[in-house]
Amino acid sequence: MRLGVNVDHVATVRQARGGQEPDPVAAALLVELAGADGIVCHLREDRRHINDRDLDLLKKLVKTHLNLEMAATEEMVAKAMAVKPDMVTLVPERREELTTEGGLDVVGMGENLVAVIGELKRENIVVSLFIDPEIQQVKEAARVGADFVELHTGPYANSVDENEADLEAEKLESMAIAASKLNLGVSAGHGLNYQNVPRIAQIELIEELNIGHSIISKAVFVGLERAVKEIIELIRGSIQGRIEG
Ligand code: PXP
Repeated sequence: MRLGVNVDHVATVRQARGGQEPDPVAAALLVELAGADGIVCHLREDRRHINDRDLDLLKKLVKTHLNLEMAATEEMVAKAMAVKPDMVTLVPERREELTTEGGLDVVGMGENLVAVIGELKRENIVVSLFIDPEIQQVKEAARVGADFVELHTGPYANSVDENEADLEAEKLESMAIAASKLNLGVSAGHGLNYQNVPRIAQIELIEELNIGHSIISKAVFVGLERAVKEIIELIRGSIQGRIEG
C-alpha cells in the first residue's frame, strides 16, 4: 500500500499571510525523504492554496509520483496536459468549500468525462476519479474509461460511533472489491488520521492512501519527517497484522 501525502495544507498556512512561507514544495521534498511514495496537490480554479509556480516546481523536483487533483474543466485539462503529472485525480470543486466535500458525480457527468479522460490518457497521464463509495459511481467510472477510483473516506472518518465506522469500512471494502473486478486501481482518502487509518490499511485491495491534513497538523508539533514516518509505520503495522491474521 502506497502513501501519497497532500501538501496543500502547507500552502493553506502560507496563504494565511499571503507571503512565501511555508513552502509546499520544500515540504514535498522532505515528505519524499521521509519515505512517502508520492505527493498530492490540488490546483484550484482560484489558486487559493497551491499555485502554478508550486505545480511547475513539483513537476520538476518530485522524484516519486505526482498526483494532481483538479476539476474537469477545460482550463485545468490544458494545464495538466502541459505539466504532465504522473496522475490526475478529478474532483468536484465548489468555490466556497473549505476542502473537497464529496465525490465526483460520475453518473451525472458521463460523456463529458469520457472526453476529458481520453485527452489526459493520450498524454500518458493515469486518470483517477474521486468518488463516493457507491456501486453506480464505481460502474460508471469503469465505463467512462478511468484507470483508478479514489474512494472517499470522509463518511468513515466522520462516523460518530463504532457501528457507523463498521458500516462505512465495510462499504469501502465492498466498493474496493467491485472496482477491482472492473479492472480499476483503487486508492482512498480524505479525513484519514493516526487513529482511523489502521482499519482502512487492512483493506487489501486498496493500493494507495492519500493523506494530508492530519500529517501536516502533526508535523507542526513533531516535524514533517517524524509525522510521515509515524503514519507509514502505522500503515505497515496494520498490514502486517492482517497478513499474520
Ligand atoms: N483525496 C482527495 C481527493 C482530497 O481532496 C483530499 C483533501 O485535500 C485528500 C485526499 C486528503 O484529505 P485530508 O487532507 O483530509 O487527509
